[in-house]
Amino acid sequence: MQPLLQLQGIEKSFPGVKALKSASLAVYPGRVMALVGENGAGKSTMMKVLTGIYSRDAGSLRWLGEETTFNGPKASQEAGIGIIHQELNLIPQLTVAENIFLGREFVNRFGRINWKKMYAEADALLKRLNLRFNSHKLVGELSIGDQQMVEIAKVLSFKSQVIIMDEPTDALTDTETLSLFRVINELKAQGCGIVYISHRMKEIFEICDDVTVFRDGQFIAERPVQTLSEESLIEMMVGRKLEDQYPRLDQTPGEIRLKVENLSGPGVHDVSFTLRKGEILGVSGLMGAGRTELMKLLYGALPRTQGRVWLDGRDVTARAPQDGLANGIVYISEDRKRDGLVLGMSVKENMSLTALRYFSHGGGTLKHAAEQLAVGDFIRLFNIKTPSMEQAIGLLSGGNQQKVAIARGLMTRPNVLILDEPTRGVDVGAKKEIYQLINQFKAEGLSIILVSSEMPEVLGMSDRILVMHEGRCGGEFTREQATQESLMAAAVGKQHSEDLVV
Ligand SMILES: Nc1ncnc2c1ncn2[C@@H]1O[C@H](COP(=O)(O)OP(=O)(O)OP(=O)(O)O)[C@@H](O)[C@H]1O
Ligand SMILES: [Mg+2]
Repeated sequence: MQPLLQLQGIEKSFPGVKALKSASLAVYPGRVMALVGENGAGKSTMMKVLTGIYSRDAGSLRWLGEETTFNGPKASQEAGIGIIHQELNLIPQLTVAENIFLGREFVNRFGRINWKKMYAEADALLKRLNLRFNSHKLVGELSIGDQQMVEIAKVLSFKSQVIIMDEPTDALTDTETLSLFRVINELKAQGCGIVYISHRMKEIFEICDDVTVFRDGQFIAERPVQTLSEESLIEMMVGRKLEDQYPRLDQTPGEIRLKVENLSGPGVHDVSFTLRKGEILGVSGLMGAGRTELMKLLYGALPRTQGRVWLDGRDVTARAPQDGLANGIVYISEDRKRDGLVLGMSVKENMSLTALRYFSHGGGTLKHAAEQLAVGDFIRLFNIKTPSMEQAIGLLSGGNQQKVAIARGLMTRPNVLILDEPTRGVDVGAKKEIYQLINQFKAEGLSIILVSSEMPEVLGMSDRILVMHEGRCGGEFTREQATQESLMAAAVGKQHSEDLVV
């Protein structure tokens, strides 16, 4: 089949990093091409070279059979290539419709913007994606998931022939993901070619026709998805067999460290649980069940209406995030883009930001040396791909940014570590590295709360599991009792009270 788009032998270097060594990719009409590879393998860079955001150092690009170079994102967009970037690119102060049609507002023959038409077209796009908000809404008021859907609506509005989606479902609920998949199938039927970048194996096998594998900036293989198994695909990605994805550490937990009693607040009603030393409590539930809200309440980032939190028998009920931190309760946000990292600052600064007080003993040089050492240790421990600790974190690949966020939390030597979706956007190999690190800290007695939408992750790593349902505790399970089915039943509110563990 003649590809719509073909890139061959692409090379691209940045100071200190050769991001693409010899990368190739083809996009076929009416087919979805998955692009997979570990964090930092060069997937996003390839897409930026392709759309003309970056120039290439070497290699060829053929668009509709002709050798081409796009001198900027506008050129590729006009040629018919649409891209949904890994990072959101919306303007929060503008409405949904203004964002979708930014820079190409409908102008009538008197030179006036035809607002009515713009909003009507935007609403039609939202409807096509089954979205419940209208296009007059300000983007800044939408959830991250809805903002992602606006990015998708925007790319659809261009009526492109090739559409690139760089980890589009990271912030989406299951229903939103289904709407996206339905639209992808529509686009396929119209003959569009799609590039789908994701770390979620399930999605690749569900929606993609072919898969291209990158490793270290190089093309490894292109295969039809149906000829592969999950294991064989992972093996191509990481270059070795990956066994035992969830390395659970079995140990008898210590005494009770954290006790949460009847906690209530926005989106959370009367939740109680305990957490021991050296224990991992998994928190499961559907998106919107109040998991993140519960954690924010616990940590002091949301106002509490009722309830108490005890740490080692002391009342540590938090009123502000500083209270949580001061008590050694550290929360690593699911949304590292909004309240996680400072993208313009270096890896070092981002990592040691919250841990600064630990380096504040002794004089200036001593402090500096200690910081340097600790950051260096964590970069090695987490295998973070960066040319140096001075690199701006915005220049790291998405997954490597996530590793920095987790390292930052651990650096403060917390008593209780709350990880909210810690492996979102992280590749399979690095996921396992993160699990092993979590276990290492668990062995040292750290108490961990693991909030995750990925059922296998919760099941594979937790000692006990709390399931949230509509802001309440929908069930609590020991590791032995928990199965995919029982967790799912509790998440949708089908749990019978007699099954509850007290
Ligand atoms: N503008 C830039 N300046 C310097 N280095 C960069 C820049 N953009 C990307 N890199 C580096 O190039 C390499 C490839 O990054 P890229 O973002 O393409 O990876 P990726 O495959 O998309 O990873 P992920 O799955 O984590 O999103 C990484 O080492 C990254 O740090
Ligand atoms: Mg990327």
